[in-house]
Amino acid sequence: MHTTPLAPKCGVEVTGIQLAEAQGDALDAIRQTIYQHGVAVFRDQDFSPEDHIAFAKRWGGIDINNYFPLEDEYPEIAVVRKKPDQETNIGGAWHTDHSYDQIPAMGSILVARTLPPQGGDTLFAHMGAAYDALSDELKAEIAGLEAFHTADHVYSPDGAYAKTDMGSELRGQELKTGATHPVVIRHPHTGRKLLYVNYAFTINFVGKTREESLPLLQQLFAAALTDDNQCRVEWAPGSVAIWDNRTTWHNALNDYHGHAREMHRITLSGEALAA
Ligand code: OGA
Ligand code: MN
Repeated sequence: MHTTPLAPKCGVEVTGIQLAEAQGDALDAIRQTIYQHGVAVFRDQDFSPEDHIAFAKRWGGIDINNYFPLEDEYPEIAVVRKKPDQETNIGGAWHTDHSYDQIPAMGSILVARTLPPQGGDTLFAHMGAAYDALSDELKAEIAGLEAFHTADHVYSPDGAYAKTDMGSELRGQELKTGATHPVVIRHPHTGRKLLYVNYAFTINFVGKTREESLPLLQQLFAAALTDDNQCRVEWAPGSVAIWDNRTTWHNALNDYHGHAREMHRITLSGEALAA
C-alpha cells in the first residue's frame, strides 16, 4: 500500500490496494491512514455492492442513514443521488455526517456509480489542522465547552430539504434528533485534538441560547476552513473514498446541473466522543 497526499494537511490517495480483498493488516493500515489524514481515495476499484457491504462489515458496524433513500436490493446502502432535472444535491454545504447522534458514525465509504461529465467533486477539510490554527485565545475560550447538535431543521417537514426538489426523496422527516458533544474532541484512535462543531448541525453551546452562541459559533465555522486544511476529491469511475467524520468536514459541490450523479454510501458506526 502506497499513499500520496492530496494536499499538505488533508487527504491521501492510496494505491496498491483492492478494497474488495483488503483485510487483516492491510485493513488496519487503511484505518490508521484515514484516522490520521481524514479521507482516503482509492482508484480503479472493482467494488460491487456486495463487496461494499462485505468490506464495511470487516471494518465494523454499519449505521443505516435515517434520511437518504436506500438501495432497493441492499438496504445497508444509502443512495446519494441527484437526477438531471433536480436543482438540489445531498450534502451541498460544509458538514460532518451524523454529529446529531450521541454516538456519531465514524465515517463513510462512498462509491462512485454514475458521474456527471464534469464537476461533482467533494471537498474535505481537516479539523485537526483547523484546531491547531486557532489562536491561543480562542483555544482557551472553547476549552471545556460542549455544544448541542440536531438534524431537525434540515430534515423535518418544515426543514431545509423539504423546501427543495430533494424533499420528496428523503425519508425520516418525523424523526427527532439531538446530541451534545465537546467542542474540542480527542480523536478516539489518534488522540489528536479536533474541532468538533459544524455548520450544518451544531446549534448552540450547552447553557447558552442560539442567539448567545451564534457569534462564537460563526467565528469557529469561519476559522475551521483555513487556507491550507482542505483537499478535493475528483471522482472517476471506480473511485471509492472513505472518510472520518471526526477528523473532517466535507462539502459536495453542486456544479453539474442537467446531469445525473449517483453515489453509494455505507455509513460506518463510531464510538462515543470525549474531550
Ligand atoms: C454524504 C455526502 C458527498 C458527495 O454522502 O454524506 O455528503 O460527494 N456526500 O456526494
Ligand atoms: Mn455528508
